[in-house]
Amino acid sequence: MQILVTGGTGYIGSHACVELLRAGYEVVIADNLSNSSAAVLERIERIAGRAPVFYKLDVRDAEGLRLLLKRHPVKAAIHFAGVKAVAESVADPLKYYDNNVNGSLALFTAMRAAGVKHMVFSSSATVYGAQAVSPIGEQAVTAPVNPYGRTKLMIEEILRDLCIADPEFRAVALRYFNPVGAHASGLIGEAPQGTPNNLMPYICQVAAGKLPELQVFGKDYPTPDGTAVRDYIHVMDLAQGHLQALDYLERAPGFSAINLGTGRGTSVLEILQTFERVNQITIPHRMAARRPGDTAVTYADPRLAAELFGWHAALGLADMCRDAWRWQRQNPDAYA
Ligand code: NAD
Ligand code: UD1
Repeated sequence: MQILVTGGTGYIGSHACVELLRAGYEVVIADNLSNSSAAVLERIERIAGRAPVFYKLDVRDAEGLRLLLKRHPVKAAIHFAGVKAVAESVADPLKYYDNNVNGSLALFTAMRAAGVKHMVFSSSATVYGAQAVSPIGEQAVTAPVNPYGRTKLMIEEILRDLCIADPEFRAVALRYFNPVGAHASGLIGEAPQGTPNNLMPYICQVAAGKLPELQVFGKDYPTPDGTAVRDYIHVMDLAQGHLQALDYLERAPGFSAINLGTGRGTSVLEILQTFERVNQITIPHRMAARRPGDTAVTYADPRLAAELFGWHAALGLADMCRDAWRWQRQNPDAYA
């Protein structure tokens, strides 16, 4: 069975491609390489023992998509392609609405023309906004606070409408919490351009001596140790969730939005200490002011994914820290 994976050379997409290939799917990637490297393709093949088919293609390219879907009779699409930097989305909202919303519209239109009826979409916990009380269930109010989050919610709503208009069209939006870690081989992982914004890649670059110290944003949150709490989820657990969502689409009509998180909250200091312990390395750090826009506590209620398709996160914080550091250590310049 062939699956179209948009954004398949990116961080989460590359890990999902490995799992899809290992499960026996034929994988067709469409990625414009705007935030990834074609070098990942050989790594995917090395891990999975089989290569994905790759098209350097922007999902806004309607004609390119049409030709791709004509050549490859895919059963379903997993849609990772998109831009994802919150601050950049505030500074340049049109880039986000164009890339994410127009890109999704072009993809869904091409799928409709080709008769492809199953979609798994990369959404984000960011659709819940700042007021949501953790553990956050899928019925919580959606109120994204930045353009990036609004693109994710808009795309979810487009999918919801498509499922109503065409009873054969089915979609799952997976709302990821905080994906971290890397494949255990150390061959693929997260490759942020420039200085990372997110916690785990930042810690890795401090550990590697590329950055002098970690700033812990906020020490006076109403949490046990005063630092902010998030739901970190291993990227391989996340990848596995996509395969289970594909299976679920075989038996579930309509649209569903489903959290992928562990249900466990972890503070910044806890992750720092775990990283130091499992990797036997000291991370210079200092306490700093809160980062504007951050919430104190955000973690998932992951029960729906368990109920609907039997998904549970299997890997813990120690695995996340060990695998993230192995990837960083073995690839100091990522795919360069
Ligand atoms: P990533 O940047 O590593 O991967 C996205 C991929 O999409 C890249 O390879 C990029 O080149 C490609 N791409 C972007 N725009 C494209 C376009 N118009 N046409 C074709 N390809 C395009 O990001 P990621 O972390 O792997 O995230 C994957 C998806 O998951 C994104 O949609 C993101 O919004 C979502 N998500 C990520 C996180 C996270 O923390 N990483 C959290 C929640 C949701
Ligand atoms: C951020 C985005 C979210 C996106 C997610 C992708 C914001 C407000 N939210 O989530 O939309 O889906 O990334 O994974 O940008 N921290 C430090 N020092 C650092 C970096 C981070 O202390 O150098 C802290 C943060 O304050 C936060 C925690 O670590 O409490 C996690 O931060 P991060 O990895 O950036 O993820 P989120 O902010 O949860």
